[in-house]
Amino acid sequence: MPKLIVVTREGEEREIMGESGLSVMEVIRDAGIDEILALCGGCCSCATCHVHVDPEFASKMPKMSEDENDLLDSSSDRDDRSRLSCQIEFSDALDGLRVTIAAED
Ligand code: FES
Repeated sequence: MPKLIVVTREGEEREIMGESGLSVMEVIRDAGIDEILALCGGCCSCATCHVHVDPEFASKMPKMSEDENDLLDSSSDRDDRSRLSCQIEFSDALDGLRVTIAAED
């Protein structure tokens, strides 16, 4: 199982083993980290699963859809590392991925 490293809003770093095929949002939520609200359940319509992705993995990220881009624009914490975690499929290729949970809007 690939490993995901999650940095919470308090700066605590958690290592989680995640199932391939789930979204990064689902891996985080299933680990009991409740800072990710994921209100829309992963339908790319709420932006409450916003994370900042470690630059090291930028080239491995799936292409951002227009919907995701528009939603991220509604966040005051957006930067060039921002992604919606429900739109990132977790896999062995992302083993060791480090994401930081974005500030609450
Ligand atoms: S869970 Fe709603 S946009 Fe990701």
